[in-house]
Amino acid sequence: MYSKEQEQLLLRQTETFKNANVDVDQLAKLRDLLRYHEWRYAVKNDPIISDFEYDKLFDELKRIEKLHPEKITPDSPTQRVTNDLTESGNAVEHIKPMLSLGNSYNAEDLRDFDESIKRLLNIDIESDLEYCVEPKFDGGSLALIYTDDLLERAATRGNGSKGEEMTLNAKAMPSVLLKAKFSSKGFRRVELRGEALIRIENFKKVNQRREKEGLSLFANPRNAATGGLRTKDPQETKNREIEVFMFQVGYAESENGTDDLQRLKTHYNSVELLRELGFKVPEKEIKKCKNIAEAIDFCNYWQEQRDSYPYEIDGMVVKLNDLALQERAGFTQHHPRWAIAFKFKAKQATTKLVDVEYQIGKIGSVTPVAKVEPVQLAGVTVSSISLHNEEFIQSKDLRLGDRILIERAGDVIPYIVKSFPDAREGTEQKIEFPKSCPSCKTTLVQAEKEAAWRCPNYDCPDQFKQRLYFHVSKGAMDIDGFGPSYVDQFIHQGWVNDLADIYKLDYQSISVLEGFGERSVEKLREAINKAKKNPIHRLLHGLSIHHLGKKASKLLAENISNVKDLQSWTFDDFVNIKDIGPVVAENVIQFFADDKNIALLDKLEALGVNLKQTDEDKPVQVSLDAPFIGKSILFTGTLQKMGRKEAQELAAKMGAKNISAVSSKLDILVVGEKAGSKLKKAQALGTVEILTEDDFIARVK
Ligand code: IVH
Repeated sequence: MYSKEQEQLLLRQTETFKNANVDVDQLAKLRDLLRYHEWRYAVKNDPIISDFEYDKLFDELKRIEKLHPEKITPDSPTQRVTNDLTESGNAVEHIKPMLSLGNSYNAEDLRDFDESIKRLLNIDIESDLEYCVEPKFDGGSLALIYTDDLLERAATRGNGSKGEEMTLNAKAMPSVLLKAKFSSKGFRRVELRGEALIRIENFKKVNQRREKEGLSLFANPRNAATGGLRTKDPQETKNREIEVFMFQVGYAESENGTDDLQRLKTHYNSVELLRELGFKVPEKEIKKCKNIAEAIDFCNYWQEQRDSYPYEIDGMVVKLNDLALQERAGFTQHHPRWAIAFKFKAKQATTKLVDVEYQIGKIGSVTPVAKVEPVQLAGVTVSSISLHNEEFIQSKDLRLGDRILIERAGDVIPYIVKSFPDAREGTEQKIEFPKSCPSCKTTLVQAEKEAAWRCPNYDCPDQFKQRLYFHVSKGAMDIDGFGPSYVDQFIHQGWVNDLADIYKLDYQSISVLEGFGERSVEKLREAINKAKKNPIHRLLHGLSIHHLGKKASKLLAENISNVKDLQSWTFDDFVNIKDIGPVVAENVIQFFADDKNIALLDKLEALGVNLKQTDEDKPVQVSLDAPFIGKSILFTGTLQKMGRKEAQELAAKMGAKNISAVSSKLDILVVGEKAGSKLKKAQALGTVEILTEDDFIARVK
């Protein structure tokens, strides 16, 4: 269909068009481009750009065609009403066409939408229009007809005016009611629209089952759901645990046979009616908003919450609430004028892998970092992405110059999903993992069973710098205001050659450095002096001993009166402490066996850094009648009366064990404001005691 050269040209154009407004002269090119991506998606089943990027290009085409309607050609991708009809299916006509939705991407688009409706309906621009906002479910849509309270027919959306009949399959979905008492509301015949979805956690099960049965896996819940609507076997539909959310009453005929939809007055009322009759409809994720500003807030709120929702949603839908106004606003060929989709920021994007840099960690691990052409992803610009280790690069078959698909879900750091070997031009280069340290040229070593290559030179300049960054950071000595830029400057001046030099800085010399004032130097001095008195678990952690994390540092600190005690500890002394394993033991022993390190501790001590156990290092004393003895606890949401850390410490003093996830192991969940998925999960488990912040405080008093 396309030659390699053609594909490469189209891909280059994609990159150009993605990042700029397209000119009307390039309309034909843009159409070709969209046709190519349609082909990759629909025919090859191997899309090379994300859905979001496709939608943006498509919207750009629509925008230009709207400005120059005379240039629309019958074969333009905009002239295609998306179609899920197959040759074999039984095509049936919808009572009212099932149209698509226009897209918006930000608050400004939504304000424009609000204004355009007001202009259309001759309503004062300053006045408030009420909207109903609900999720834009990312599944397969379907239409259900009920006549005399009985499900008469179910059909997929099809081409909008005709769909494919799938009544038997619909009957295999428990959320599709076989009977609903529309007659009690004076309706004889109705057509409802809804979306078939698979809960994300059920989707995993669907794929696991398919894997066992040797069937091909679905790429996402949407594909599994849309496919499930049209299987030849209702049992298979049932197995996929498809749930149908209803989002619209499209048509409602009264007992006397006339169209009586307007009697429902508002969209919100119609959803309430469906709820009352037993259909599945959005719960707290649907909201009546008194004006567009409130609608925007609700959209933004759900953009943040998106990952806590148990189903996939790719945006929100903003609908004019008043049905009479909806009717006045009417439809374009393609979508209603009274509704618009607010698309969430993309979680996926494509870009180009330009370079790989190698970062040396504080214990010498070499981490490859991909430098990519900057691209917007879920609201932030991404230009570098960790490649973890050599194995990762090999398993993804990455080359310099490759086009890559990247993803970022929730707060998670962006990662590379895959490369597109098909899109290679031949100039891409293999990534050669270095054999020696990029900083000190020492030959790298790879420990058994570890994927990372390490620079074994303790004095490697980059490693030392990372150790310093870590030593002064919040997680270790917590020297307020002492960030990486200070470290860089002091190293550059030659003032810091080991960790201890931090504690003998000459403040007079610092004050004449550029960017330092009297106040900042004074603050630094105070912060360093404060750090000298730190509990020893912070110092232990701040020494960057391999595998000695925060928790193990605390355990060791509980068991010694002076850091130097560890010099005489045997392997057994270590592993006799619960939760200290052989790996930590060996690494700490090795550290204290090195005279250089002992000299470092002596130097620190001489400079006034505390090496003795403090009260804070001592184990928390829990009395036997403490209220939470033997219980596990988790805090979620925002606490109002105390910080999260404070609450956790308090809980620990009262005998509780803080854990980080909701599972059957959790006894108590304390919920603050805006608690999300953890609360839901705990409620679903039914075995977790749920406390408010006030309940918690009352219990620990
Ligand atoms: S209203 C005439 N509401 O999005 C009104 N659609 O892009 C058109 N969708 O085919 C639809 N959630 O499958 C509406 N809450 C929602 C929706 C929703 C998902 C889908 C629907 C439609 C597509 C339009």
